[in-house]
Amino acid sequence: MKLTGRICLLCMALLYAMAADAGKSRHDVVYSCTGEQVRIYSSAVTDTLCIFVIADTHLWLSDEREDAFRQFSGRMASAYHETKHFRTGKKTNPEEAFRQTVALAKKRGADVIALLGDIVSYPSERGVELVQEVMQEAGIPYYYTCGNHDWHYEGMEGTSYELRKKWRELRLSPLFQGHNPIAYGVEHKGVRLLFLDTSDYEVESAQLEFIRKEARSRKPFIVFQHIPLYAPSRSVAYGIGHPEWGAATDGGYKTERRNRWPEGHQKTDYDFYETLVNAPNLIATFAGHVHLFGTDIINGKPHFTVGPNFTGAYYEVQVMPKKK
Ligand SMILES: [Fe+2]
Repeated sequence: MKLTGRICLLCMALLYAMAADAGKSRHDVVYSCTGEQVRIYSSAVTDTLCIFVIADTHLWLSDEREDAFRQFSGRMASAYHETKHFRTGKKTNPEEAFRQTVALAKKRGADVIALLGDIVSYPSERGVELVQEVMQEAGIPYYYTCGNHDWHYEGMEGTSYELRKKWRELRLSPLFQGHNPIAYGVEHKGVRLLFLDTSDYEVESAQLEFIRKEARSRKPFIVFQHIPLYAPSRSVAYGIGHPEWGAATDGGYKTERRNRWPEGHQKTDYDFYETLVNAPNLIATFAGHVHLFGTDIINGKPHFTVGPNFTGAYYEVQVMPKKK
């Protein structure tokens, strides 16, 4: 009896310690969003971090180096030539919108620019050079992850996995600045910024392990990716972990002249989704792809999509110490 009682007391003490520990690792966060301004007040940070989030610029420019590839890039090279500014409604275009957004980031004193894919409409050498030139002029640290168009040459032989790997290495690699394109993390002012390549809708086991490790670390983190996470009621464009994503719902493979999606997601994709949305130290995720501003709250955490930068759209995210 005495032993059982001691064991019970020990168990209770252990459970209490685990509960207290779990409470500590769940950061106290308040979110405040107005238009393109996102403010995140967190008890886990001590300094203000300003991040400009840009996705879907769809730069279509190229030069004579593209001539041999025009049969694969023609459709996307003719898209988004003239666009309307998301605020003023005035005529603009992807290059002008991109330059203006980066100039604004500089003016606002941004610490970091996050480029979340579809920055170019196909892997044009001139397009990649332009991004490098603009970012170099701005002198702001920037981090990039792929979108599904950045590496896609329509009608080219190969699986999405093969083509992404090939064009990421041949054309897009300068934008990664030495980081692992599949998944990498950087730290600014005590916040982990994680960049994951979700641009073919599927997750690799290395990406699952990466996010598991970050979730265990207890350091506050924000995830940046191109294709957004599944949220109930959202279309399969919110494809990461979406139970309806698969061949039967692939409406774009003929237009984009690519292989049809596989039957559906694998266990790794669902495990990745569950790990991410349940991570106590997750602050928020940001994605592009759907070309609209939106927020889904999953397990009490916000998952943002940013409007298309070919209209000048962006998020200005401020992560700040939580006010009492
Ligand atoms: Fe896009």
